[in-house]
Amino acid sequence: MKVSVLVSGSGTNLQALLDAKARGELGPATLDSVISNVKGAFALTRAEQSGVFAQCIEHKSFPDRASFDLALLAALRERGTELVVLAGFMRLLTATVLDAFPDRVVNVHPALSPAFPGAHALRDTLAYGARISGCTVHFVDQGTDTGPIIAQESVPILATDDELTLRARVQEKEHALFPRVIRAIAERRVTVTRAGGLRPQVRVEEPS
Ligand code: GAR
Repeated sequence: MKVSVLVSGSGTNLQALLDAKARGELGPATLDSVISNVKGAFALTRAEQSGVFAQCIEHKSFPDRASFDLALLAALRERGTELVVLAGFMRLLTATVLDAFPDRVVNVHPALSPAFPGAHALRDTLAYGARISGCTVHFVDQGTDTGPIIAQESVPILATDDELTLRARVQEKEHALFPRVIRAIAERRVTVTRAGGLRPQVRVEEPS
């Protein structure tokens, strides 16, 4: 299954995927390309260092969200992408991209959804005074971090935590969980069922 990873920043989750692939832990998922919407994102360097096709489509150079998404979709089609993986990609995608990849766009979010959606999940979690945090891997819908949940991991919040220490603890979980989920999707062990009016439910089968 050909995977394109969309990034905006440092790319530690991308690195976890690259490392998992190198260890033979991504099953039939191939990391075909990395696309950043931010020029100079370190994730692009990580891709290049691993010999993965890397491309920047800077959202700033498009007049609106619709035209950026059209350019992104064209790039994904050009690569023959089958699964779109958002690894710290800090842009909302519209139906232009999402409808082209039904149940084939996956995101990792640093909170236990549905709590604390958005770009400042860890800061919001600490400000709220929550005692438990974690990460969520979910299919992407048109909301902000609202799509059907595939997997979650929790971590404790310590009295001494600041955003940096909590991020480190949460990302350690992300780096282990995200590759496992991508492998499960590539091995076709993840199914989504929709029953009228209810939220879509995701089932993940254990590997045989
Ligand atoms: C990750 O922690 C990811 O959960 C978060 O951005 C970080 C990217 O780090 N995503 C979101 O907040 C999405 N709402 P990375 O570039 O080092 O992988």
